[in-house]
Amino acid sequence: MRRQQHLIRLVLAAGLAAGLIGCLTDRASRPAPALRAAARGRCLIGAAIDAQAPDDPLVRPLLERHFASVTPDNLLKPDALQPREGEFTFDQADRLVDFARARGLAVEGHTLVWHHQTPDWFFKAADGGPVDRATALRRLETHITTVMRHYQGRVCAWDVVNEALSDVPGEYLRETPWLRAIGADYILWAFRFAQAADPTAELYYNDYNLEIPSKRDQALRLLADLRAAGARVNAVGLQAHYTLRWPAGADPETTPSEAWPDAATIEQTVLDFHAAGFPVMFTELDVNALPGDYNGAEVGLRLATRPELDPFRTGCPPAVLAAQARVYGAVFDIACRHPDKVRRVSTWGVTDAQSWLNNWPFPGRVNHPLLFDRAGRPKPAFFAAWRALTGRH
Ligand code: XIL
Repeated sequence: MRRQQHLIRLVLAAGLAAGLIGCLTDRASRPAPALRAAARGRCLIGAAIDAQAPDDPLVRPLLERHFASVTPDNLLKPDALQPREGEFTFDQADRLVDFARARGLAVEGHTLVWHHQTPDWFFKAADGGPVDRATALRRLETHITTVMRHYQGRVCAWDVVNEALSDVPGEYLRETPWLRAIGADYILWAFRFAQAADPTAELYYNDYNLEIPSKRDQALRLLADLRAAGARVNAVGLQAHYTLRWPAGADPETTPSEAWPDAATIEQTVLDFHAAGFPVMFTELDVNALPGDYNGAEVGLRLATRPELDPFRTGCPPAVLAAQARVYGAVFDIACRHPDKVRRVSTWGVTDAQSWLNNWPFPGRVNHPLLFDRAGRPKPAFFAAWRALTGRH
């Protein structure tokens, strides 16, 4: 009898141990909880992807599991779609758009009018001199109309104008080739042409540093002007290229970082646009993990290589990852608390390997700005986002 009981106890213990081990290995191998499911009903979770995404064995499953929307990183920009006047090259972009749609991902169009990645021919006359206003307007219309009609029904939302506001203190609009060729109303015309090309598409204004009060005021002025002139702008894209501020050379384990912008400023930005009648989207979210004293996202800024601004080449210290997670947590928390105001949160890339911040403002850095590391593993930032979305710990 006693032997029998002993045997039963042994079998039970073994069973329990096996179960426990099974559980543990199961937990270790279980994929991270799906972000898009956690956000369902509140906001869309998106990511920028490049031409390699469909064939990338790391990126593809992450996309399918966590994201509901994608933004082609470079393929819908003017230099990709119309390198020479009248010569539209849609093949590469079509492939990416079709890949996304086949997986039920919404595709965000980025971008029709910008001062970067736009070929010079747009702004040149036949004799090589500056283009006249009428010709520039016609080129603007042709580009917008052709691209939007090509993607009608497949790309249902467009960043119509990107970064039209000036960073120069006291200056309203950025001095761009479009502004020079057409005048300040090029923005209004862009929205008019977009509205006419595809009346069903969502039309956005997209920019960086709108968290800075003076630039936010410029944006509010622009939006009010556009509305007064009868243009339809459905929402504002906050690029959300955020950063941790570490003094170069500081030890991140002992020096607290200062995040820019802080959570209260981000939330106030959302509230201000909403009060003016515009929902917002975080369209290009990333949190720069490397030291440096610049912020914003002027892609034209090129600095000389400085090794002290590239200190985490072999891995990102836990204290930095934790500070970064707090920023991501704040953004997703704001999105959760304002589902009527924040439509979408998109990161600018999927894994740290694809981030543009590895090559800006100087090439060859090893940055760590996104939700997944170079091996596709979820980072503390990911879990902070998930906790904010689910309220679970
Ligand atoms: C970046 C791309 O990610 C890079 O590959 C490219 O070399 C430069 O542009 N703001 C924007 C995006 O609106 O289009 C930029 O994308 C990043 C900053």
